[in-house]
Amino acid sequence: MSTDAEDERRILARIVRQRLEALGRAGIGQIPLPVPLPAAPSMPPKPATTAVPASPKLAPSPRPAVAPTAPAIPASRPSLPPPVMSSLFEEPKLEVSIPAGDREGLLASMAAEVSKCVKCPHLASTRTQTVFGEGSPTARLMFIGEAPGADEDRSGRPFVGRAGALLTDMITKGMGLSRDEVYIANILKSRPPENRTPLPDEVANCLPYLERQIAIIRPEFLCLLGKTAASALLETALPLGRLRGRWHRYREIPTIVTYHPSALLRNPDWKRDAWADLQTLMNAMGLKAPDRKKPGGTGSG
Ligand code: URA
Repeated sequence: MSTDAEDERRILARIVRQRLEALGRAGIGQIPLPVPLPAAPSMPPKPATTAVPASPKLAPSPRPAVAPTAPAIPASRPSLPPPVMSSLFEEPKLEVSIPAGDREGLLASMAAEVSKCVKCPHLASTRTQTVFGEGSPTARLMFIGEAPGADEDRSGRPFVGRAGALLTDMITKGMGLSRDEVYIANILKSRPPENRTPLPDEVANCLPYLERQIAIIRPEFLCLLGKTAASALLETALPLGRLRGRWHRYREIPTIVTYHPSALLRNPDWKRDAWADLQTLMNAMGLKAPDRKKPGGTGSG
C-alpha cells in the first residue's frame, strides 16, 4: 500500500514529466535556470459570483481563439481545502479553438493513431480493440470515465455495459440530453485485464490522447466519473469524497467530479449525491430536468 506522500510524489513526478513533454511538443528544448519559483504558488482567486450564463440550447457556440473567461460558477465550499496539486503550476494560456468543421476529422485521425498504440504492450496484446470515445465534436459537456470494460472492449464504444446503461440514464432521463449531444471518453483507451484499476504508467501513457481530445472538442464543461478520472486530470491525490460537491477547473474548463456509475451500481445510496452533482452541472449549463409528466420524460431524483 502506498502512502499519501508517495502518491503525491508520484503524481508530482508525472506533472513535471507532462509539463516537460508539453514544452517539448511546443518546440521548447531548454528552460533557462535559475527559475524563481514562488514559495507557495496558489491559483488566483476566481470570480465567485452566482450568475449563470443563459444558454438555452445546445447549439455549438463559436469560441474565441484565446480561452474565454469561464462562466461564473459557484465558489468552492470554504470548508474544503483546494486540491493538493492543482496549484503547483499554472497552465500556459495557449489554448486555441479548433474550427467546429475540423474537429470530426481530427478526432477520426487521432482514433486511427490510437488504434495502433502499443505504448502499453501488455494492454495492446490483451485488448480486442481500442475504445477511443464517441459523441459530438462540438459537445458542451464531456464525460470522462476510467477505462473500457469487457463490453466496451468487444464493441469499441465507451460505456455500453451495465455502468453505461446507468450513465445513459443520467444523461437522458436525468439531464434531458442525448448521448449524441455530449462526448464520452475514458482515461485509458484499452481495457485493463480483469478490469483492474489502471496503473500509473498506463495513465501517463494514455493521458496525452485524452488531453488532445479535450483540446480538440474544448467542451464548456467536464464531468469526471470516479477517482481515476479525477486524479489524472486534476492531478490530485484527494479522495473522491473531498472532490465532489464543488467546482474544479481543468485548463480553465469548469469541471465537476462525481461518482463512477459502477460505484453507483454497487452503492445505490450514493445516487442522491450524484444527482446533486448533475444538478450543479445543469444549473451552470442552463439546463432543466426533463418533465416527469411528459410522455417519455421520466426526470430523475
Ligand atoms: N467504465 C468506464 O470507466 N468506462 C467505460 O467505458 C465503461 C465502464
